[in-house]
Amino acid sequence: MSEELHARLRQRGRASVDFLANFGFGMSDLRNSVEEEIQRIVPDPDALPDDLDQRDARMQQSLGASQAYRATQAVGEWMATHHGLVAKHAFEEVREEMEPILKKFEQGGSTVEANPDMEAPAYWDGVDFHRTAGGWDEHDYQGYIHADIVHTRLVAKTFPGGIFAQRRMVAALPPKDHYDKIIDMGCSTGHFTRALQETYPDAEIYGVDLSLKTIQQAQRLGNANGWSWKLYQRPGEDTGFEDETFDLATSYILLHEIPADTIKALFKEAFRVLKPGGDMIMSDVTRYADLDKLAMWRADAGAKYGGEPHWRASASLDLAQIARDAGFVDVTAKAFDPFKYPYVVQGHKPE
Ligand SMILES: C[S@@+](CC[C@H](N)C(=O)[O-])C[C@H]1O[C@@H](n2cnc3c(N)ncnc32)[C@H](O)[C@@H]1O
Repeated sequence: MSEELHARLRQRGRASVDFLANFGFGMSDLRNSVEEEIQRIVPDPDALPDDLDQRDARMQQSLGASQAYRATQAVGEWMATHHGLVAKHAFEEVREEMEPILKKFEQGGSTVEANPDMEAPAYWDGVDFHRTAGGWDEHDYQGYIHADIVHTRLVAKTFPGGIFAQRRMVAALPPKDHYDKIIDMGCSTGHFTRALQETYPDAEIYGVDLSLKTIQQAQRLGNANGWSWKLYQRPGEDTGFEDETFDLATSYILLHEIPADTIKALFKEAFRVLKPGGDMIMSDVTRYADLDKLAMWRADAGAKYGGEPHWRASASLDLAQIARDAGFVDVTAKAFDPFKYPYVVQGHKPE
């Protein structure tokens, strides 16, 4: 994020955001107590029900008497419902001084093609992803609020592993040193697009996303750094580009946001728009197959109560097979330690 784009929050907004971020750390003792309780009541994770809903019901019932668990649940619920509001209020306090800066960076080499007539898919439109009322496009500056406040000041501090370093690591995985034309599907506010541009400085980068507000923020990020990104409000599964246009097709944590059929369509679309010999890299959340039953319950419960309606289905898929079915060859899949995250599928289109 360019310094000028990074809001100087007022004391109240900054304190509220910092409070949320730090509260997560302050809860570590409580979390440890819950962990001990879980170890006590689940001596053998393999004995838990196979069905994920039944497993959750069993865990909720067994943990219901634990005060520590009830406290962590209440705090989790409060954070899930309030982080978006806290971020929005923090932005509103500085809106007047930030608006001219945000408008300034809407000019430049990075462009946005809005698609007001697009009929947004039912799985996306009006869904409160991440428990943010109204979802991705709720506020005029939702993309900015998300990138500068939620991601940079909250998620980056509390999510394990360094969310920006992870993107840079994945961007460097494709096999060639140079790509002429890259398409980043579900580019959102441009965090991964940025990692791609920094890794392949001469590449011409295209981004598609259903959310206009987030690609407007990607545009500001691109312009603030002197990059010329071509951003389109279009679905990743139907990008509208000609066959054989790109040398590299990517997505970063898009797949768990879309239903299984759309994931399959997205891989096929990536295959279609790639030139022969082009590379594909899709990176997403931890596969359930890489987790034991208890870890899977934790991930699944986190997704369920955190406003991620498609996570379970997506995390249960065999993405490497889906890539092969779409036509990709030499497909590999790798889960990165210590959290088996991100999960990265790569392959290429035959020459
Ligand atoms: C978690 S974000 C992606 C993050 C981004 N790639 C990054 O590196 O920060 C998910 C994005 O996918 C977008 N999205 C959801 N379904 C989509 C689809 N079918 N086609 C394109 N974008 C989609 C959402 O609007 C949202 O901006």
